[in-house]
Amino acid sequence: MADPFQDVDAAGPEFIKMFADSMDVRQADPTMERIVADYLRRLPLAPDSITIEVGAGAGAVTRRIAAAADPAKVVGFDPSQGFVNEAIERSRSHANLSFTVADGANLPIEDNSVDAVIMHTVLTHVTHPDSLLVEAFRVLKAGGSLVVCDADFSKATFSSMPNDPLNICAQEFVREFVTDAFIVGKLRSLISNAGMEIASFDVVSRIVTTREQMLPWVEVTTQRMVERGDIGKQLADALVAEHDRRAEAGSLYGYQAFATAIARKPS
Ligand SMILES: C[S@@+](CC[C@H](N)C(=O)[O-])C[C@H]1O[C@@H](n2cnc3c(N)ncnc32)[C@H](O)[C@@H]1O
Repeated sequence: MADPFQDVDAAGPEFIKMFADSMDVRQADPTMERIVADYLRRLPLAPDSITIEVGAGAGAVTRRIAAAADPAKVVGFDPSQGFVNEAIERSRSHANLSFTVADGANLPIEDNSVDAVIMHTVLTHVTHPDSLLVEAFRVLKAGGSLVVCDADFSKATFSSMPNDPLNICAQEFVREFVTDAFIVGKLRSLISNAGMEIASFDVVSRIVTTREQMLPWVEVTTQRMVERGDIGKQLADALVAEHDRRAEAGSLYGYQAFATAIARKPS
């Protein structure tokens, strides 16, 4: 099945609500907060600037951008009407923030009109990342900044031992919910090919150790495997029980790598 993040509205309201909540939980993680704060600190965000987030989802990151940029204008774009509705609902307290439904390859914005474009965990979910980067180049002012932050899902694991059975949930997540698990390795050349100059490229480890962070992965992935008929409910329940046991014992361990590339459109 195709990665549901390619067409979130088709995945239905239950998916939208669950992942809107789950992206809020992920973004509240101290490591994720640090990643976003670090790249925002490196953007000028002048009071008269315009910053856009492409693939803003339900606005978990857009709200952080709006708080850092205030009073400067921030606009979140996402192709999913369902996510945009959630984003508007969750960001009522930010007067400088708005959301619009739009595909990242076709933004309703003039050429050379925005100061910064941010793509946070988006390119790993699209089939043509180059088209989003070319569009970012088009809308950026000369000297404007591009931030691309993405998970390197090719390195994601729940393993604490060889052949760890819990790791099938990480593998299943990547198989079902990711379009290109190897996007991070291609980022620098994709960004350069779109005409931008890379200023920095860093990778940070995120460790997932709590029930709140990891249970949605385990529940959703085991449910998918049952629906496909690959495993029975007994094994699905056993994997969730093993997850819960590790959470209780303090031995839960998930690993993700997040890369951040910052680039500039040449002046
Ligand atoms: C994992 S979510 C990340 C949402 C948000 N950036 C965050 O971190 O909370 C991936 C997002 O990419 C969006 N997306 C998928 N295809 C896209 C496209 N062609 N253009 C723009 N966004 C897209 C999805 O609708 C979804 O909201």
